[in-house]
Amino acid sequence: MKLNWAELLVVNNPSRVFQQRIEIGWMRKRMPLPPGGVFLEIGCGRGAGASIIRKEFSPSVMCASDLDFMMIRRAMKYLAPEEARGVAFLTADALHLPHPDGVFDAVFGFGVLHHVPAWQGALSEIGRVIKPGGVYFLEEIYPPLYQNILTKHILLHPAENRFRSPELKQALDLTGFTPVASLEHKFFGILAVLRKER
Ligand SMILES: C[S@@+](CC[C@H](N)C(=O)[O-])C[C@H]1O[C@@H](n2cnc3c(N)ncnc32)[C@H](O)[C@@H]1O
Repeated sequence: MKLNWAELLVVNNPSRVFQQRIEIGWMRKRMPLPPGGVFLEIGCGRGAGASIIRKEFSPSVMCASDLDFMMIRRAMKYLAPEEARGVAFLTADALHLPHPDGVFDAVFGFGVLHHVPAWQGALSEIGRVIKPGGVYFLEEIYPPLYQNILTKHILLHPAENRFRSPELKQALDLTGFTPVASLEHKFFGILAVLRKER
């Protein structure tokens, strides 16, 4: 589901970039992958995450995709030209990723799954494109944050089939992801590093 005006304000601002720098730094400390990997970021939005991921991890291939073509256009402008040359941008639905099985060393997703109505399908696509032993870096928020008395009138999200901690953890487990490290507030959200075991 594409973002409405309110959430565009929430994600397209300098404090979000600051937050992502801290989060990606935390992720790299937990899982310092060697340079030269093949990476994907789904739901990349305006590209701030892709830029930070490149600096922190130095992948040899970085794909960044989003359902919304306008976000991809923003991302192509957000990155400096020399930086953008190292990133393959594409418009793609996380439910139907246009990549072969098992090609990525790591997949990143910041605040994406809770925008997908059938989010379990997106998880299984992520599991499909990551190599066995590869890593999924995840940041997600839970309904008390985006569907509370205030935010449900301002933000736009799917209303059904929502997940909190137990549903998300069960689905991650079923998809073959094992937690390596996580920081979680049971009501608000999670930051996690997961390894694909099979
Ligand atoms: C909350 S924003 C987060 C953007 C960016 N990752 C960040 O952290 O600033 C969610 C992003 O996911 C994208 N998105 C929503 N549904 C999607 C889907 N099914 N497949 C891929 N991207 C999707 C939206 O267009 C939006 O750019």
